Amino acid sequence: MLIDVASAEVVTVYQALVGIVTPRPIAWVTTVDDQGRVNLAPFSFFNAFGANPPVVVFSPTLRRDGSKKDTLLNLEVVPEFVLNAAVEDLAAPMNATSKELPRGQSEAESAGLTLRPAVKVRPPRVAESPVHMECRVRQILPIGDGPIAANLVIGEVLLIDIDDAVLDPSGRVDPRKLRTIARLGGSSYCRSTDLFEMERP
Ligand SMILES: Cc1cc2nc3c(=O)[nH]c(=O)nc-3n(C[C@H](O)[C@H](O)[C@H](O)COP(=O)(O)O)c2cc1C
Repeated sequence: MLIDVASAEVVTVYQALVGIVTPRPIAWVTTVDDQGRVNLAPFSFFNAFGANPPVVVFSPTLRRDGSKKDTLLNLEVVPEFVLNAAVEDLAAPMNATSKELPRGQSEAESAGLTLRPAVKVRPPRVAESPVHMECRVRQILPIGDGPIAANLVIGEVLLIDIDDAVLDPSGRVDPRKLRTIARLGGSSYCRSTDLFEMERP
């Protein structure tokens, strides 16, 4: 199959992209609006891009009608967020928080999750998650203005809080204990527990 982006349907391009760029880690993002109302949603256009300072990027794309998602609207007024780890035990509530609720209505509450205050930022943490990264927005970079257009939220991580229960004896995160899940194309996910090791040359 050959997809010439210049003439293809946006949905075809999207489906190819998310089927090919796999597995994608999941940013499970808490934000607040100017009244402090909490929003929680997952984003798999996500990764980390450096460590000094630690930088993460995720992309709340424009909706198919071209409107901005609540996460993006919130970040434009309160430029702080918390990344909660999407782990196997929380797969169902994580997915539940992708439901489009009216602005200001809490996905965390409807998914039965507990919110706890963060240390350095205004949005709260999802208490059930074993890892929290508290972040400040450095830049929001829109690319395109049509349906599913990217909005790169470039964030600087200010605080990383890891539950000791997911560490190995040397103090590194043990993937067998953290058990993050990742997104493939369509509605498929994968686990991060099928490991193999390779030393760098
Ligand atoms: C696992 C998963 C990954 C997702 N990744 C993205 C993404 O990268 N970008 C995006 O705009 N929407 C993504 N979505 C859809 C959003 O979570 C959904 O549109 C959500 O309602 C947005 O919430 P908000 O309007 O409260 O910000 C994803 C959904 C799921 C379940």
